[in-house]
Amino acid sequence: MKLIIDTDLCTACKLCSQVCIRDNIAVDDFAVEIGDNCFECGHCMAVCKVSAITLKSFEDHKDKIQDYDSKNIPVEYDDLLQLLKQRRSIRWFKNKKIDNETFDKLFEGAYYSPSAQNEQDVEFVVVDEKLDDFMNLVYDIIKVDDDKFFRIKEFGEYLKDSSTKKLHPLLWEGKQLILTFSTDKTSAVIANTRLELLAYSLGLGGFYSLFILKADELDHNKLMEFFPKIDKNKHMYSTFIIGYPKVRFRRTIPHKNINVTYY
Ligand SMILES: Cc1cc2nc3c(=O)[nH]c(=O)nc-3n(C[C@H](O)[C@H](O)[C@H](O)COP(=O)(O)O)c2cc1C
Repeated sequence: MKLIIDTDLCTACKLCSQVCIRDNIAVDDFAVEIGDNCFECGHCMAVCKVSAITLKSFEDHKDKIQDYDSKNIPVEYDDLLQLLKQRRSIRWFKNKKIDNETFDKLFEGAYYSPSAQNEQDVEFVVVDEKLDDFMNLVYDIIKVDDDKFFRIKEFGEYLKDSSTKKLHPLLWEGKQLILTFSTDKTSAVIANTRLELLAYSLGLGGFYSLFILKADELDHNKLMEFFPKIDKNKHMYSTFIIGYPKVRFRRTIPHKNINVTYY
């Protein structure tokens, strides 16, 4: 049983059973959990008008439960769209590191992220002090593709002699990375996107790295040796270089039209 139902509070309104997509709740005089099918999405708890339902395994997360007025959408469409318009990939960073408190603020967005089958198995790694070790491993893995991508070749040359190149060919001025792991690619990408938007709302910025991602595609097992605590069934599905922007962009950029087809 995954739910704690306070039968004294329950008014048998049936909202919980209506929103349950697993048919896990029956209501007669009061709500009762009838199966073991619950995947702890919490919709029954969130919809209850009298707070009669709690998720048993999240009892110690009470500080995350907050009542709100669902008619009050806290962000205006125009504001959110403006943030999306102004977002640029940031590659040029100030010489200032993001502290753990600020990282926590970003991971808060991921905490509330949806996930496939509600697995909630997305996890993050911040690479900071071990950046050089990590990037050496990335190169060791992705160098097999250096004839396909000039950036990988440049990266190899940079590692041999960094004095010849102004900037790191993969990280530019980046000094901190957020790597996102999950068994499900979409869940990882969604979680990182939320984190990214919160980062921009705090005046931070960053860019995704295709080449670091390749390390997981090319040799997942070797990559995971660097992260012994992470379940090997999870893959690194997002790599985001993050920091305090140095260059300020001044205007939005036109994009190709988005193709939308209605069937
Ligand atoms: C999946 C993904 C991978 C990317 N890989 C890199 C990368 O390896 N290096 C880089 O400098 N930018 C990378 N970018 C950033 C794109 O180049 C950038 O989004 C594009 O040039 C448009 O600029 P904008 O993000 O400022 O709109 C990546 C973006 C995405 C979404």
